[in-house]
Amino acid sequence: MSTTPTDLLLRGLSRSIGNTPLLAIRYRFRGTERTVYAKSEQHNLTGSIKDRMALHVLRRAHESGVLRPGARIAEATSGNTGISFSAIGRALGHPVTIFMPDWMSRERVDLIRSFGADVVPVSREQGGFVGSIAQADALAEQDSDVFLPHQFSNAANVEAHELTTGPEIWYQLETRGLHVDGFIAGVGTGGTAMGVGRFLRAQNLFVRVHPLEPAESPTLSTGCKVGQHRIQGISDEFIPPIVDLDFLDRPVAVSDGDAILMARALATRLGLGVGISSGANLIGALMLQDELGPDAVVATVFSDDNKKYLTTALVRDDEPVLEHYLTPEVELLSYDVLRRVCRTCGDLEECQHWATVRAQLDARPAS
Ligand SMILES: Cc1ncc(COP(=O)(O)O)c(C=O)c1O
Repeated sequence: MSTTPTDLLLRGLSRSIGNTPLLAIRYRFRGTERTVYAKSEQHNLTGSIKDRMALHVLRRAHESGVLRPGARIAEATSGNTGISFSAIGRALGHPVTIFMPDWMSRERVDLIRSFGADVVPVSREQGGFVGSIAQADALAEQDSDVFLPHQFSNAANVEAHELTTGPEIWYQLETRGLHVDGFIAGVGTGGTAMGVGRFLRAQNLFVRVHPLEPAESPTLSTGCKVGQHRIQGISDEFIPPIVDLDFLDRPVAVSDGDAILMARALATRLGLGVGISSGANLIGALMLQDELGPDAVVATVFSDDNKKYLTTALVRDDEPVLEHYLTPEVELLSYDVLRRVCRTCGDLEECQHWATVRAQLDARPAS
């Protein structure tokens, strides 16, 4: 089989995406010292977990021929996805157009533009997130050479995490003789929660897998209720088609103010500069651990770093502390890093283990 320049580029990109460190966060809560685990996704190429999805979606589309050389990539996104598709799409030689709600942070818009992509802001009156999707679809209807990744309904989004994030968590914990009892992640598209969940449940059917949502916009648990919240990247006004609520355990709600306070505590106490959804995920992880028992092995993801939130409440000092918040009860003590391990290299071209995993996935009937 011949190797094309795109194959070579994909190979190079895949070596700078995924296989991130796993942080062991030690904290004191309700009288006991405990540890939860979080993938440090700021180590990906553009600094967020969405690189995994964007790379895998484009790789799959390239392999199947759906993505033709030079075709425009158009996607609706609240930010990180846009940054990932812009960087990876441009590296592969594609023009990129990103449709996004106009209330997303300035840093995100500027970053997307810095990669040479076009940004089309969509106001609440134009339909916000749902309007962004409609506009991307309309562009593809006018021009047959537009590729729509459709991250909310693309099975390759889930597969990206089933193939990388899930195994990484499992095998990194295995180096310490640990096995996962529970996983929790905020749901944007749901790719992370569904994909990691699928891999972990294939190892142990009884692993708890919880989606997390903002308490101010509990769309997953109510099916419809949409409110305004400040946890950028999650809860985009509808239940994404790739989310199977029957597969997942019950949604866990976290307040956006509590998430902000926890993300700030991670930065000021441990020097871990993370985004707001990472603060939410840590709160969700310790709630789940509190339910399963202080020694339960619970994992989550720190989806991105704090640099895209410099104009948001994350870096202001005036976040009110409400009575039901958990952050004031948590004392962050220290953290350790579980290294990347050979088993999680994810190198599909050169690693026999991964070639076998991939062959098994390809042989599976489409879901
Ligand atoms: C900061 C942040 N956290 C969490 C998520 C949610 O990830 P997923 O789309 O896999 O559910 C996203 C998705 O864009 C994000 O940008």
